Amino acid sequence: MTMNLFEGIEQDRTWREELCPGALVLRGFALENLAHILTALSAITAQAPFRQMLTPGGFRMSVAMTNCGACGWLSDRTGYRYAGLDSETGQPWPRMPEVFLALAQEAAASAGFQNFVPDACLINRYQPGARLSLHQDKNERDFDQPIVSVSLGMPAVFLFGGVRREDKPTRVPLTHGDVAVWGGPARLRYHGVMPLKEGCHPLLGGQRINLTFRKAA
Ligand code: SIN
Ligand code: FE2
Repeated sequence: MTMNLFEGIEQDRTWREELCPGALVLRGFALENLAHILTALSAITAQAPFRQMLTPGGFRMSVAMTNCGACGWLSDRTGYRYAGLDSETGQPWPRMPEVFLALAQEAAASAGFQNFVPDACLINRYQPGARLSLHQDKNERDFDQPIVSVSLGMPAVFLFGGVRREDKPTRVPLTHGDVAVWGGPARLRYHGVMPLKEGCHPLLGGQRINLTFRKAA
């Protein structure tokens, strides 16, 4: 007699954790197409290398960034903004790969946000010690569109706060393949990332990569 040990176990490819109305984490959602995602990522960073941008206050960010898609997020002494050209190379940002777009759209739909068409993908690289202080994503035109945030490589502690900077954030561990989505009533929640710990991920080494998809224009 054979027995199906997995009988009755949910066939969904991930499980989900709600952070608050409008925000959730889809555990492992990005694992399915991972090889394609990593190949596309290498091509992007070869064309538009990671760089540590300056904040408007003149500090060098600890997180290194690049972009793909029609709009790229930039910071320098004049402020934060989206731009079609990479300020380092003078060239348009690399195109958003189909596999990135599909991942972002599927994650958004799975979180209840249909018809998400991101035109911006900010790519963050955290090395040990790199952190992102609490902030809101509000350089986008339309706050009805959600944010889709994909974690790859080393684990990190994501800080998910309230709509006021003083609201105490909850600590959400994010690991390789997790996708966080926030929109609707959660769209303007403060969020950030605790300093990355030392370590070594089998595929990505001692770093964490985050892809943040947004509809900017
Ligand atoms: C961001 O807020 O832009 C990035 C968040 C993350 O790295 O998880
Ligand atoms: Fe953000």
